Amino acid sequence: MQRIAIVGSGHLAHALWGGWRRNPDPQRTFVLVARSDAHRDLWDSTEWGSMVSYDPAAIRGSAMVVLAVKPKDAQETVARIAPYLDGAVLVSPVAGWTIAQFRELAVQGPLVRIMPNVCAAIGASTTLAVFDRVSDQERQAVEALLNDCGSLTVVEESLINPYTALVGSGPAYIFLLLEALIEGGRQLGTDVDRTRELVSSMVEGAARLARDRSQDTLSEWIKQVASPGGTTEASLAVLNQAGWPALLREAVVAASQRAVQLGKPT
Ligand SMILES: NC(=O)c1ccc[n+]([C@@H]2O[C@H](COP(=O)([O-])OP(=O)(O)OC[C@H]3O[C@@H](n4cnc5c(N)ncnc54)[C@H](OP(=O)(O)O)[C@@H]3O)[C@@H](O)[C@H]2O)c1
Repeated sequence: MQRIAIVGSGHLAHALWGGWRRNPDPQRTFVLVARSDAHRDLWDSTEWGSMVSYDPAAIRGSAMVVLAVKPKDAQETVARIAPYLDGAVLVSPVAGWTIAQFRELAVQGPLVRIMPNVCAAIGASTTLAVFDRVSDQERQAVEALLNDCGSLTVVEESLINPYTALVGSGPAYIFLLLEALIEGGRQLGTDVDRTRELVSSMVEGAARLARDRSQDTLSEWIKQVASPGGTTEASLAVLNQAGWPALLREAVVAASQRAVQLGKPT
């Protein structure tokens, strides 16, 4: 039996747990170490009840410990759980926090820095990972765990902050886009629920096309939709005039810079 501890009971913990409980592996048991009832609204909608503990010692005997706490709480939390790690693989999704920083906190054992996203909740996270001092067997176990929440790509650590901005924060950009599209539709008289379903499906289709037809540039696909003098050209003119593409680029750079700041001790 493999014991997995999740430290922190907030949004990411909730999303990862959502992914893991879709097809529960009978060989795994989970324990969630919470600090308070602040995110109780999230637990009530799940089956977390009996797996929750407020005692950091509850991580004892775990093969993997996922540190799902905010960057500002990482140092204190590591100090609390360190006596009970006992060689467990520490899996950190903490934005900005580098492997070297954990090593400075005397975390000597196997460490995996990851950047997942909230789509883990439905097993659709695009997760990046960096492995350090991890044996082949531990690596396989971590990969199996993370693959249950979506796809996993191993990257160099220098790319984690840029990818934090792109795929960790990314779902929020898409939700913002969807919200704006749905509101635009509402102003034109469309039904909100049906529009949400239709535009979500449209985004899924466009994303699949962009990924599956990677031999074509995205500009070529834009041209295929935007015939001269047509409807798409009218909307793209508004977006380009408002500087939308440049704004998105700036947003991504800002998120990556923020990740760097979050990793700096205060
Ligand atoms: N949310 C995302 O989409 C996302 C995506 C990728 C990476 N991340 C990373 O994941 C981490 C968690 O983010 P989040 O959005 O889940 O934050 P969150 O919703 O604020 O949850 C953080 C949780 O950590 C708990 N906590 C803090 N110190 C603790 C301790 N010593 N022992 C036990 N629990 C403790 C907090 O307790 P209280 O309930 O008492 O406040 C809270 O439940 C962050 O480092 C973030 O960078 C998040």
